[in-house]
Amino acid sequence: MKKKYIIAGNWKMNPQTVEEAKRIATQVKKVAIKTKKIETVACPPFVYAHLVNIADAFSLGAQDVHFEPSGSFTGEVSAEMLKSVGVKYVIVGHAERRKMGDTDETVAQKVGAVTGAGLQPILCVGEKERDSNGDYLGVLKNQIIASLGKLARKDVKQLVVAYEPLWAIGASSAMTPADVRETALFIKKVLSDTYGQEYALSVKILYGGSVTFKNAKDIVALGQVDGLLVGRESVNPEGFNLILKEIDGI
Ligand code: PGA
Repeated sequence: MKKKYIIAGNWKMNPQTVEEAKRIATQVKKVAIKTKKIETVACPPFVYAHLVNIADAFSLGAQDVHFEPSGSFTGEVSAEMLKSVGVKYVIVGHAERRKMGDTDETVAQKVGAVTGAGLQPILCVGEKERDSNGDYLGVLKNQIIASLGKLARKDVKQLVVAYEPLWAIGASSAMTPADVRETALFIKKVLSDTYGQEYALSVKILYGGSVTFKNAKDIVALGQVDGLLVGRESVNPEGFNLILKEIDGI
């Protein structure tokens, strides 16, 4: 059977109440449960994670993690804790977390902690800007390699990479499918050069940045990616459900 697309919702610091979180999850569940080609992933804020009833309809994700297993790290949450409340995927190195202090080194430690706990990291990478010389490709390559750190070849199969060019996050329009395709191929090449083709091919590549139901299908079908990381539209159940329907119809 063909691998399923991953459509992951990064709820960020939304919504404001647990009642609203449950409402969003219940609405999305109605469509997610009927899809055949999609693994839907919801990444709510930590406090809502185990309260959102999503069993059977979609997988649970987290938006960040600390790299240490336990101890004196006020305000932090470990990979084992996330696992114990049913989390399967963990977003690591999102641009907004990098802006708040995550470096390639700490991102690599987090990737190691997540895979070590048997969970799947959704590693976010993306250039700040594009230049006409193609220098951004070198930036992207270095970021990918540094963010993976010492990730062992055996753990590469757990990896998901979300390509999110910074200029397309929270923007008015997404990247063109042609550019998504070119960059996804480049990311696969970097992974292949690092881990070998067989391992690289097992890594799902997602696109993120201003995805809506209007552009979702073209980005996945023409951009040839394995799914999407959706921000704003993930807490708008009507819009998110339309994205699910569009992708399930490919
Ligand atoms: P956006 O966010 O869909 O609102 O652009 C994407 C993300 O930050 O993951």
